[in-house]
Amino acid sequence: MTLNPTEPNATGARSRLRVFAVTSGKGGVGKTSIVTNLAVCFAKLGRKVLIIDADLGLANVDIMLGLTSRGNIHTLLSGEHTLDEVLVEGPCGVMVLPASSGIYEVTHLSSEQRIALLSQLDTLEDVFDTVLIDTGAGIASNVMYFNAAAQEIIVVVTPDNTSVADAYALIKVLTQNFGEKYFHILLNMVQNEFEAINTFKKIERAAAKFLNISLDYAGFVVRDDHIRKAANLQKPMVEHTPAAPAARSIRYVAESLLAACGRSSMKGTPQFFWKRLLVEEQTNSFHEAPG
Ligand SMILES: Nc1ncnc2c1ncn2[C@@H]1O[C@H](COP(=O)(O)OP(=O)(O)OP(=O)(O)O)[C@@H](O)[C@H]1O
Ligand SMILES: [Mg+2]
Repeated sequence: MTLNPTEPNATGARSRLRVFAVTSGKGGVGKTSIVTNLAVCFAKLGRKVLIIDADLGLANVDIMLGLTSRGNIHTLLSGEHTLDEVLVEGPCGVMVLPASSGIYEVTHLSSEQRIALLSQLDTLEDVFDTVLIDTGAGIASNVMYFNAAAQEIIVVVTPDNTSVADAYALIKVLTQNFGEKYFHILLNMVQNEFEAINTFKKIERAAAKFLNISLDYAGFVVRDDHIRKAANLQKPMVEHTPAAPAARSIRYVAESLLAACGRSSMKGTPQFFWKRLLVEEQTNSFHEAPG
């Protein structure tokens, strides 16, 4: 495929690049479902979207979207494939950088490898304006690495107590060990808004009391079996059953997230993500998972 630069908007400026890491404390809470569906919503709102699949789990982004990839981050790093060869096109023009054990290698590159990779990835700044990273769950070093490099961190939480406790534990590590202070909390598999807000408040209270940070409520996605049914057919639910209750909630979340990011930069200047990931923080805390 050929990577074409993004079109300037009506004011002659390109949309600012936004990089969202979608993460969770507990596994199976719906990250990949949310990433794939949010990506399609963003694309429909006119954004040029790249998904980076940074999770080594089983239900990968490419599988969920029915894509066949030639290469992955591992073959990109080994020089077997170029970036153009590795990226795969999904629904609505969403591009996907597929996962592999190469995700682990990204956190352990030599300076030469970082520079070689950067020169390839630099071209992406002109091509995409929205990057969504499916980080995988927990506090392993590769999860932390992508969260700390992204501008916005979306923590997916379900109402069950383990998910709430694990989300708090993840936020605690990112705050105390990586200096992160801004988190969007997205409630998934809730019955209604009341349950979403109640769950959000539990985490919010703990974060305010023990970590001295305030959290952003990013909305909710209702429990809806249309998500699983669409995934079984390897289609994004917002395309397959756009009138489904969960599709409506995800569209609303997508619009709110873009509006929130337009109002403020949650994490300083919109410095290009890859440089952050590969150059600025190459020395220290990314390489060890905090205890
Ligand atoms: N809102 C929802 N309502 C009903 N089912 C959902 C919802 N969101 C996700 N699911 C289902 O929950 C299961 C787990 O979802 P998914 O694979 O997206 O989670 P994950 O957080 O990416 O998991 P992992 O940590 O293993 O990567 C899937 O079967 C998916 O279809
Ligand atoms: Mg997943």
